[in-house]
Amino acid sequence: MRAVCPVRRFEIERDRVIIAIDGPAGVGKSTVAKLLAARLGYLYLDTGALYRAIAWKTLQSRIRPTDHDQVTALLPITSIHMQFRHGAMQVLVDGIDISGELRTPEVTAAASVVSAIPAVREWLLPIQRQIGQRGSVVAEGRDMGTKVFPAAPFKFFLEADADVRVARRHRELVAAGRDGTVETTSRDLSDRDRRDRTRLVDPLVPAGDARLIDTSALSPDQVVEQMIAAVSIGL
Ligand code: DC
Repeated sequence: MRAVCPVRRFEIERDRVIIAIDGPAGVGKSTVAKLLAARLGYLYLDTGALYRAIAWKTLQSRIRPTDHDQVTALLPITSIHMQFRHGAMQVLVDGIDISGELRTPEVTAAASVVSAIPAVREWLLPIQRQIGQRGSVVAEGRDMGTKVFPAAPFKFFLEADADVRVARRHRELVAAGRDGTVETTSRDLSDRDRRDRTRLVDPLVPAGDARLIDTSALSPDQVVEQMIAAVSIGL
C-alpha cells in the first residue's frame, strides 16, 4: 500500500470532509465556525437555527414548547429548507424565510426546550445529514461529533470559563440592541446549559475523539488558527 502523507490526504479528501464543532452557548462557536468555513471555502451549517426554526413554528402555532405531544404533532405538517447564499444560511419554514426572527429571546428560550424532545431531534437528523453529504461543511451544534456526524474526521469541542461566556453573550445582546442585564444573561445561559447537558437524548458532551479547545483567553482568529493547524496535519 502506498503511503500518503497527512497533508496530501487532506487535500485529496477535502471535498468530502465534515468539520464538527460542538460546545455550549457563549464559547464563540458560531463566530469561529463561520470564520473557519470562510477560510476553507466550506459551507457553514448552523444546526442551532434548525432547532430555532421548530421553536419559531411552535410559538407561531400557539403551542407551549414544553408540550411534547403537540410539538411532535407539528412536525409532519412542517417543512424546513435551508438555502446557502454568500456563506450565509437562510432558513425557510413552510416556504417563508424566517432567518431574521430566529434570535429573539422568546425563540432562544423555546429552542432550548424543544431541542430536548426526542421526536424533534430525530426529525432534524436526516435534514442535517443530507446537507453533510455535500461535503466541505463546517457543522456547528451540540451533537455534531457524537450523533449527527460521528464519522467526521475533524471534531472540535469548545469550552470557556463561565464568566467569559456570560460576558461574551451579554456583549452580543447589547450589540443586537436587546435588553438584559449580566445577571439575567448569566441565568439564561446556565439554564440552557443545564438543559443541554442533562437531556436524555443526545446531551451536550464532547465526542471521545474531539479535540478540546478552551477559548477563554483566545480571540476567534486564534481559535481558527489552531483548528486549521490541526486539520492541515490531519489530526
Ligand atoms: O446554538 P444555538 O444557541 O443557536 O442553539 C439553539 C438551541 O438548540 C440550544 O438551546 C441548543 C439546541 N441545539 C441542540 O440541541 N443541538 C444542536 N445540534 C444545535 C442546537
